[in-house]
Amino acid sequence: MKILDGRKISNQIKEEIAAEVAKMKERGEKVPHLAAVLVGNDGASLTYVGSKVRSCKKIGFESTLIQMPSTTSELELLKKIDELNQNNDIDGFIVQLPLPDQIDTQEVIMAIDPDKDVDGFHPTNFGKMALDMSTFIPATPFGILELLERYKVDTKGKHTVVIGRSHIVGRPMSILMSRKGWPGNSTVTLTHSHTKNIKDIVSQADIVISALGVPNFLKADMVKEGAVVIDVGITRVPDDTKEKGYYITGDVDFEDVSKKASFITPVPGGVGPMTIAMLLKNTLLARERHRSRGKS
Ligand code: GUN
Repeated sequence: MKILDGRKISNQIKEEIAAEVAKMKERGEKVPHLAAVLVGNDGASLTYVGSKVRSCKKIGFESTLIQMPSTTSELELLKKIDELNQNNDIDGFIVQLPLPDQIDTQEVIMAIDPDKDVDGFHPTNFGKMALDMSTFIPATPFGILELLERYKVDTKGKHTVVIGRSHIVGRPMSILMSRKGWPGNSTVTLTHSHTKNIKDIVSQADIVISALGVPNFLKADMVKEGAVVIDVGITRVPDDTKEKGYYITGDVDFEDVSKKASFITPVPGGVGPMTIAMLLKNTLLARERHRSRGKS
């Protein structure tokens, strides 16, 4: 069994990006600038956005954090997005999800300029991804592809089972794993809450990608010997014995499943850190595209 070490690989990617930024500075060019919009004060979202902004500083990007109260109206948020779309200093931005109930998430995503949509959530970018065109690939699926590539995991002709059909992970992952090329060329089954015999289907998988958010959902008896297991779940479990009052766990019963898997991602330290690294990579790409189009 081999660990797909997201912490190590994400650090490598960040070093590669930092080296690119150093070259940009030497040439006297503008460095990439990422903005993040956070509406409300959900604990997990605050942690993720804080981590994204800190990573920008570490690798030499500029970053801007925009915090808006949980009572923000859709119109107020759309106005902020318009400002960010118009601001030539900003290469890319994200609106952290989930949003409060009074705001329609799809309206917000559609308001983002596709050229600045470094999350790859806008229908234009999502459509380009599905059509194998060059675009911003959503950071979590992009991070999983990068892990598979850097550990030289064979995906051609394999049966990949994706658990969960979210717009951020499951749906794009199912498209990407079936694409021509590598990592891809897989036969994909996308399972969800209405799937019958999910246990049987998962146990036929060569590659399992679980993005469900249910701790310890995936047990050893559901996994084929030698399977590749990717755990996208990040759940905070309350625990008074921990300093933070919780611990983080994934969808996979790591202890048992790791005995059968050929490759497995740990939680924490697997897919999570890769998501941030790939967001930074998308922001670098946004900067390069803006420069080549002479925007600034
Ligand atoms: N919420 C959970 N994951 C993500 C992500 O990748 N991007 C944004 N914007 N929100 C998220």
